Amino acid sequence: MQTDVREWSELSFDYYSTDYNVRYSYRPDRGWSEMQLSEDEFLPVPLAAACLHYGSSLFEGLKAFRGADGKIRIFRLEDTVERLQSSARRLCLPVPTRMMIIEACTEVVRKNLRHLPPYGTGAAMYLRPVEIGTSTSFGVTPSANALFVVFCSPVGPYFKEGIRPIQVAVDREQDRVSANGTGDVKIGANYAASLLPYQHAHEMGFQSVLFLDPKEHKYLDECVAANFFAVRDGKYITPKSSTILPSITNKSLKQLALDMGLEVEERQIPVEELESFEECGCCGTGAIIAPISEIYDMQTKKSYFYGREVGPVSLQLYHKLQDIQYGLAEDIHGWNTIVEE
Ligand SMILES: Cc1ncc(COP(=O)(O)O)c(C=O)c1O
Repeated sequence: MQTDVREWSELSFDYYSTDYNVRYSYRPDRGWSEMQLSEDEFLPVPLAAACLHYGSSLFEGLKAFRGADGKIRIFRLEDTVERLQSSARRLCLPVPTRMMIIEACTEVVRKNLRHLPPYGTGAAMYLRPVEIGTSTSFGVTPSANALFVVFCSPVGPYFKEGIRPIQVAVDREQDRVSANGTGDVKIGANYAASLLPYQHAHEMGFQSVLFLDPKEHKYLDECVAANFFAVRDGKYITPKSSTILPSITNKSLKQLALDMGLEVEERQIPVEELESFEECGCCGTGAIIAPISEIYDMQTKKSYFYGREVGPVSLQLYHKLQDIQYGLAEDIHGWNTIVEE
């Protein structure tokens, strides 16, 4: 899709072509290449490449914002660096250096400035770093060769008509990840496994699936592409689990909740506790917070309701985070990286 740069308010949370992406390639004998700027939307990948057959692929997602003061801010780039590197280590792929990731993310923004949504449109620039294994082999072995690419796309606000609660389904019969598997890293394989349960829930009218812990199916884990949190009695409560992705948004919300004087509990949350929550939500880079109005348990057929409007604590957290991203509130925790133009 080509971006019509004048139609910012029409953008959805979707992929729109931009002018440039940046790339590095890795070979064991040469190490990482210099950063290359490319106008090509396609990658040169061999037919037998590990990424096409054995899931040697990982990615990240983060946003750059044009602030109220005209400055460009990338939100929590340093945390993205660490998570990307941990995904690469888990897939036995060459690990891009911190400087490579930072330079790639800032350069892709600088080179696509005409696609960066202006302040006040609700839109932002989504950055998508991707690493794939490109070694050719029929043996299931780690890929020695790799491509690391960062591209970007302007994206509209997740909720175009304002923040609206969603309905999610608990599915005890399907897992996103295994108990001692790869749930805590951001790799393509985890998302492949979540597609069928997602489609099933979607056909039943739900916008996401809330997965349980894959070992005992007793505790809340997370959603297809977002962490879960709840609010009760002045507490921000979120699952502690080795099988969920450590969400950078959730990490930020926990800090903001503490700043607001809430208590933060990170612990196992039994499914039955859903009954007692005042507010529930999904959190992630795309939406910041998607409040939940209903959680339906597909197997017990029990529904839990949280109201048709976003709750007061969720709304306050949402605005506090967004204000930091747009430079409207002081960045006291040092979360923003300013992109020099
Ligand atoms: C499985 C999963 N959990 C949680 C998140 C939220 O993470 P973040 O806040 O870093 O975007 C995402 C989205 O990136 C995700 O895909």
